Amino acid sequence: MSPFDLTRTLAPDDTAAALRADVADGLTRDPKELPPKWFYDAHGSELFEEITRLPEYYPTRAEREILRDRAGEIAQAARARTLVELGSGSSEKTRLLIAALRALGGPLTYIPVDVSESALAQAGTALLADHPGLTVHALVADFQRGLTLPAAPGPRLVAFLGGTIGNLVPVERAAFLASVRRMLAPEDTFLLGTDLVKDEATLIAAYDDPQGVTAAFNKNVLAVIDRELGADFDLADFDHVALWDRDNEWIEMRLRARRYLTAKVPALDLTADFAPGEEMRTEISAKFREAGVRAELAAAGLRLRHWWTDREGRFALSLASPEE
Ligand code: SAH
Ligand code: AVI
Repeated sequence: MSPFDLTRTLAPDDTAAALRADVADGLTRDPKELPPKWFYDAHGSELFEEITRLPEYYPTRAEREILRDRAGEIAQAARARTLVELGSGSSEKTRLLIAALRALGGPLTYIPVDVSESALAQAGTALLADHPGLTVHALVADFQRGLTLPAAPGPRLVAFLGGTIGNLVPVERAAFLASVRRMLAPEDTFLLGTDLVKDEATLIAAYDDPQGVTAAFNKNVLAVIDRELGADFDLADFDHVALWDRDNEWIEMRLRARRYLTAKVPALDLTADFAPGEEMRTEISAKFREAGVRAELAAAGLRLRHWWTDREGRFALSLASPEE
């Protein structure tokens, strides 16, 4: 096998059909809603990387701190010969894990999984330049749609970093964690990154930066719908909104219409009216507590073995294994 290959499990037609279905459903709901996975075309993936470098966006730095301090321990506990990463994006922080797993000796296979082919291609090329000897088998796939992984040596460590699990609503999280459990053999492990509940001001600042990068990321979903479905959304007609839902303990990102407008979506033969001030939810970003993470893992048949946080207690990494 070549040291890098990329498998498209999502035919372009499947992706187009899924986008059409999500937009048709989301724009006809009350209130309107769009799923966050459509942020991540090539431009959206770049905007997300820009977000990770913002002073206000602490999760990436906090998770990197944990990985810097704990990657050796994680590698020792997992002893993995294959690292699978779901929603891998730029794979930037993953380098710390890869280095620690390689330090155990022996070959390592890395299977990054993402809907963004551009992110996978860039990350794979950069990683191989720095890690000759690594085998990278990238998978363009939707981690919510029942993954079939390529055959790869065990034990396997399945990582889901960045707090991306918080972008799923609770019922989606339960289904996702159950699918992770089905992926794992008894000797495999699961590494999960979760952002933690903290004061509202810190949370809001992370999702409403003064530079407007998060606003551009949020509005990018409209640009994707314009390009892919021939819609006529004008991004200037919407304001970025980030609010903290205290009851659900999640951040909600919304797009608020600045005026009365009718958006046409020719590919769906659909028009959607927005009243002035009408808000459409584009993302939730749930924040967690240790007991909640433990309980959600347990409900999926996964036992929490380690819980590590950064020094300020902003973010956590959990290592879990299948219940016997
Ligand atoms: N893990 C990286 C990137 C997080 S951004 C980090 O911690 O920085 C979220 C990533 O998940 C993006 O690269 C996005 O393309 C990917 N993603 C979002 N929804 C997805 C889905 N349903 N299936 C696969 N990848 C998805
Ligand atoms: C990818 N995910 C964990 C990010 C988050 O923080 O929920 C996406 C994001 N949305 C706004 N800023 C970053």
